[in-house]
Amino acid sequence: MNLANEPAVAGLAPAATDIHAGRRARLLDHLARTGGVAILPTAPSAIRNHDAEYPYRHDSSFYYLSGFPEPEAWLVLDGTNGETTLFCREKNVEREIWEGFHYGPDAAREQFGFSSAYSIAELDLRMPDILAHAASVHYALGTSAELDARVRTWLDGVRTRSRVGIAAPAIAHDVRVFVDEMRLFKDDHELDIMRRAARISAAAHRRAMQASRAGVREYELEAELLYEFRRQGAQSPAYGSIVASGANACVLHYPAGNAIARDGDLILIDAACELDGYASDITRTFPANGRFTGAQRELYAIVHAAQQAAIDATRPGASYDAPHEAAVRVLAQGMLDTQLLDRNEHGGLDDVVEKKTYRRFYMHSTSHWIGMDVHDVGDYFEPLDAAPRGDTPRARRTLAPRMALTIEPGIYVRASDDVPEAFHHIGIRIEDDAVVTDSGCELLTRDVPVDIDAIEYLMKR
Ligand code: GLY
Ligand code: MN
Ligand code: MN
Repeated sequence: MNLANEPAVAGLAPAATDIHAGRRARLLDHLARTGGVAILPTAPSAIRNHDAEYPYRHDSSFYYLSGFPEPEAWLVLDGTNGETTLFCREKNVEREIWEGFHYGPDAAREQFGFSSAYSIAELDLRMPDILAHAASVHYALGTSAELDARVRTWLDGVRTRSRVGIAAPAIAHDVRVFVDEMRLFKDDHELDIMRRAARISAAAHRRAMQASRAGVREYELEAELLYEFRRQGAQSPAYGSIVASGANACVLHYPAGNAIARDGDLILIDAACELDGYASDITRTFPANGRFTGAQRELYAIVHAAQQAAIDATRPGASYDAPHEAAVRVLAQGMLDTQLLDRNEHGGLDDVVEKKTYRRFYMHSTSHWIGMDVHDVGDYFEPLDAAPRGDTPRARRTLAPRMALTIEPGIYVRASDDVPEAFHHIGIRIEDDAVVTDSGCELLTRDVPVDIDAIEYLMKR
């Protein structure tokens, strides 16, 4: 039990105060332009069953702006006077005997650099005062009935005072528009953590590859992954680990189960850790026994080439769609070459791409933003104020330095009479995490091999 003078929450590394203060300053600057007050609660803790809780995980945007790790906390930024206020759990020595260290308002204010901090019990009392005279209120609009109702109650509290000359904010903005846009571009502090998270996840994949053999169970490999994540200090997996042997690899969201990987099966692992609030996301596909078969090699080479084409297309100035389109062309050509798709029925490459017939074997997209959340926030289209209004569709996002995204093409072949039998039940995905640089992209997750020869070499050792 941790009674030491340090945060007990999820073992997070101590916050770098100036970085979070700098982010708050940017949001305050934005709020000042509209006379706005922003309200950001962290995530609630959640009961797993009876009185046992799930491991606590903060709200990403709250943590991005505060660095504050505890549940039952709200951050309020006042653009009318530049003040930042934290509401958090009161210091309670009795409770700390059971739950470990909590900051309490005084230590939180000092440690994290807020203008003021109060007990969470004072939230409803103080919010109408903070909102009085603000022209606009900024919060995650319409994401939770509870939050909407809470804000409404505070606004009602201000409105009852309108006769004494106090005006309630008349405009509501979604605070996520600005914060998500900030989070889309990773700063040096974030990139440093993401690189470390990626290295731990890559080590975990290497460990699982080396522990693999014909007859291994999926959960045994999952245990190797979790062991390495935790051994190297990652707090948790970033998402539910997929360890799929044989035909299970064709189930896109298959969780690690009991199945035994047989001699000749491929194993698809999509698993990665979260470190200090940042996700990584890696997929590798390898033979259980350490040697790819001819048919497996053939499909693997197509997915690998598709991924390389997507990586080459990941550079500043390119459309967010460019990596996906590049991958799709290589995959579709491969499907025709291997007769997964019959030319007589489906035509040539352009037909397959245009009619999207490749979707039978490649049904997901190639990328998503990654950061604090594995499927991170960030608009996949150009921001609204840069786009024409009316019926004109918004343009796809243009890639720019410091955006982070996954590159994860795949091929999934279910058994079917019209598909060469050698390919039945083969599911392959290769996934790496990339950051757009000034000239191209940096791959964060290449400490685990991706070439067939390199995988076979690692598994032999
Ligand atoms: N692991 C989730 C994804 O690849 O999107
Ligand atoms: Mn992914
Ligand atoms: Mn993944």
